[in-house]
This record gives sequence, C-alpha cells and structure tokens, in this order.
Amino acid sequence: MTETISNAIAEPGPDQQEIEARLTRSVVNSFDDCDNPRLKFVMQALVRHAHAFVREVRLSEEEWNTAIEFLTDVGHITDDRRQEFILLSDILGISMQTINVNHETYENATEATVFGPFFVDDAPRIDIGGDIGGGAAGQPCWVEGTVRDTGGQPIPNARIEVWEADDDGFYDVQYDDGRVSGRAHLFSDEKGQFSFWGLTPTPYPIPHDGPVGRLLAATGRSPMRASHLHFMVTAPGMRRLVTHIFVRGDELLTSDTVFGVKESLIKDFVRQEPGSPTPDGRDLGTQSWARAQFDIVLAPTP
Ligand code: BEZ
Ligand code: FE
Repeated sequence: MTETISNAIAEPGPDQQEIEARLTRSVVNSFDDCDNPRLKFVMQALVRHAHAFVREVRLSEEEWNTAIEFLTDVGHITDDRRQEFILLSDILGISMQTINVNHETYENATEATVFGPFFVDDAPRIDIGGDIGGGAAGQPCWVEGTVRDTGGQPIPNARIEVWEADDDGFYDVQYDDGRVSGRAHLFSDEKGQFSFWGLTPTPYPIPHDGPVGRLLAATGRSPMRASHLHFMVTAPGMRRLVTHIFVRGDELLTSDTVFGVKESLIKDFVRQEPGSPTPDGRDLGTQSWARAQFDIVLAPTP
C-alpha cells in the first residue's frame, strides 16, 4: 500500500527540480555567516534534511497546515507536569537515537535507555534491602546486584535512583493526591552491592489522551511500553547511567512504543511461590513474589 502511494508520486521535471534545489541552496547559504560553527552546521543540515523530506513526499499545503496544527496542539497541552514534545520525540525514536549517539557502547558498561517523564528529584532514601513501594499495588519483587567499573572493581556508595509504575500502570506523579510511591534512592555498600524490594514491572501506556496519542491511533500504533523498572546510577568519576531493566518473556519487548528495549537490559524476573522464604525474612503471607538480578557496570567519565 505504502509502496503504491509513494510510487504514484510523479517525479518533477528537471526545471522544477532545479527551482527546488536552488531554494534549498539559498536557505542553506543564508546561514553561511553564522559565527557559531556548531549552530551553523546543525541549521544547515536541518534545512537540507527538511527540504529533502518536503520534496520526497511532495508535501501538500493541506498536509503542512495539518502538521502545524498538530504541533500547536502539542504545545498547548504541554505544561509543568506534561511534556508532549518529549513524548513526540520518544514515539518517533528520536529520544532513543539521541541516546545511541551520545552513549556509544563502552567496553562492558551497562547500556543506557530513555529517561522518560516520571523521574522526580527528591525521592525518599531507603537503606539497602528497603522497600520502594510506598503502598503501591503490585507483586513484590526483590531486586539485587552489584555496581562495578569496567575492570570489575566494586563501586561503593554509588547513588541508585529507582522508579516504576504501579500495577495499574500509573506512576505516583500521575495521581492527584500527592502520594510518593514506587520510587526511592539508595547507596551501594562497601562491596558495591545493593538490594531493595520493588514491584514486578507490568506494561503500561504512555499518556495517550493528547495529540501524540491521536497520532499513534491514526497510524495504527500501540501506546504501550514494555514492562520495565527505571534506574539512574551516579558515582564520582563515572558516567551517569540512565537505564531500565525489562522483563524477559514480556510480549511487548519487540513493540515498545518508545523503542527503549535493548537485549542486554532484559532480565529474568523469577516468580517465587507464596510462602517461599524471602531473602530478608520478610513475611509476605499468601502472596507470590519475584526476584531479579541486575549487575551494573559504569563507564568512566571521559
Ligand atoms: C517511561 O518509561 O516512563 C516513559 C518513557 C517515555 C515516554 C513515556 C513514559
Ligand atoms: Fe517508565
């Protein structure tokens, strides 16, 4: 279908092509005197690519107006609590591509993925083995691991921020009642080890009641994210790591709407039967629970 439509676009004749190419050259050249070399480079590339796009799809004036209206809607719904532009960048894979470009794989360092809009700065501190749940609904999950450098040396006192959605697919900040749940920070111990109780991640949709949601619906795409647990890990002399871990076996792993999944970040979340002994002796009554291991390797700062 797509092929038929794109094949149906008539190639403009040579005179028309020259008119279009001349305009592109003239706009590119308009930045020649920019005295910031990086800005000049970026703007000229942007113009070349944007013009190439308009010419390739033979953009109609109606389509361009629709696009402007769409971007206007994206702006209108954006405020302190909701950033629809980032969401747009996320579902177009631009956020993820920017991460790929800026966080090239480094030896055996843990890979980065999207930050997402639900991190908050002042999450409560918990001790090792503490609970990030704060009353959020979901299956308890014991998460443990060690933070190391790329040479295998443990990193003590690394700051580990963790945050996740509850069983209903919502982060605490998406509720209006000011609750703080499903988030905390802790520090690795002298052996670089850490552990905490969280919730077994479940799939949830990105906010899709605005223009980005309409775009997903119009293009037959799902708003669902693969189940995940967010981490941000920092330590002196090390590159900040922003990442998630994903649940092996989740059927959304291949269709995550923000393209955040990387094979190395898929972990086993092993279900434990009700009544099976917990690592810290916690009594979970008749509830099943899960456990996952995430060993983190930080790259040095360049
Ligand atoms: C998230 O994982 O929290 C998220 C990431 C990108 C867009 C929306 C949500
Ligand atoms: Fe998330």
